[in-house]
Amino acid sequence: MILKDSEYTIQGIPVTSLVREYGSPLFVYDASVIDRQIKRIKNAFSGFPNRINYAAKALTNKGVLAHVRGHKLGLDVVSVNELRMGLDAGFDADQILFTSNSVSFEEIEEALTLGVKVNIDSLSLLEAFGKRYGGGKPCSIRLKLDPLVEHHEGSREWHSHSKFGIHHSRIDDIKALEQEHEMNIVGLHVHNSSSFLDIPVYLETAERMFSIARQFPGLEFIDFGGGITIPFYPGHEVIDVDELGRRMEVQVQEFYKDYGNEPRIWFEPGRFLVSECGVLLTQVTVLKGDRDLPYAGTNTGFNHLIRPKMYNAYHDILNVSNPLASKKKYHITGNMCETDFLAQNREISEIREGDLLAIKNAGAYGACMASNYNSRVRPAEVLIREGKMHLVRKRETYEDLVRNQPGVDW
Ligand code: LLP
Repeated sequence: MILKDSEYTIQGIPVTSLVREYGSPLFVYDASVIDRQIKRIKNAFSGFPNRINYAAKALTNKGVLAHVRGHKLGLDVVSVNELRMGLDAGFDADQILFTSNSVSFEEIEEALTLGVKVNIDSLSLLEAFGKRYGGGKPCSIRLKLDPLVEHHEGSREWHSHSKFGIHHSRIDDIKALEQEHEMNIVGLHVHNSSSFLDIPVYLETAERMFSIARQFPGLEFIDFGGGITIPFYPGHEVIDVDELGRRMEVQVQEFYKDYGNEPRIWFEPGRFLVSECGVLLTQVTVLKGDRDLPYAGTNTGFNHLIRPKMYNAYHDILNVSNPLASKKKYHITGNMCETDFLAQNREISEIREGDLLAIKNAGAYGACMASNYNSRVRPAEVLIREGKMHLVRKRETYEDLVRNQPGVDW
């Protein structure tokens, strides 16, 4: 979004005109921002053979997926439906890695019938896979490295209790199954955390993965998952991807020297690619406040953007209708029948009832985590691509809410 002559625009389109056309609340995605982020990550890791698999869970929309596919990225999917959407959007099955957890073997088999590679995250599934396919189908192994040197709050704890992956202390068990069933393990995978803030954490992960990889000769890839973030709040210091790329290159080249072949290094970015492209546009329905700060109530809520409620996440908020006014402090709330702050004590250009607000960085984990709580419909989604608006998801209607509820006559 660019502010020019007191008007916010996206690729030259006035933001207010988007709401006139499609109503509010509305998710709007700027494809040029996705393009920029893809370019940044490709450049950063260009010093070694790599593959970027977009984590489809971050923004799961066929229009966006098809746009991403145009950049020749692979895809990381977590469920069979996500996988089917990726295929519908034109991804080739052999560019998709299926990384699920707590699923039945039947779901793994369903993914395999659709032609993708699967990433296995438990010993029991690995055993079932070995018994059923032996070396007939390749697979990769999702590992859990613990303890991990993670520096931001809570993550160390989160890791020791993480449900994901096969613990690194069970490598011997993995090897035993591999031998017993003559399995074809072609990849190792780890996704340490969503929001790495420290390059040394990443480098230590890489070091440990390379050392484990030495026990699995002939790998085709080593996958480092997602977790590279963008700045969300003032002073949010995030990883410099270029520096990460340069420092990883040294490690990768060192690993290649004595490994035998050169497995590609894979990454699965979600938020890095699609957070910044998205805004959630919402209208201020009510202003109130007596002794406290003014509350600006909006026509959205955690039913559409759950991140502030669920993770206490900070999303910058702009007043699109009154951008040049002096700033005042507000609580911004949704219209849920629950406490639902979207922001607290936030300085925003003076808000009047009816103003349009833009909640920024809402591309990743916004629309895809939305719900119908309070029987409110989910917003429409618009992708701006080459200066044109494309409706990539219609706003839901009452009929959508009741579609799967059979009529009753009691
Ligand atoms: N790969 C795997 C195996 C993952 O589990 C995830 C995210 C990613 C890649 C992408 O991670 P990213 O680059 O987007 O951090 N709903 C939360 C995030 C949960 C992410 C779960 N897995 C949020 O709104 O922050």
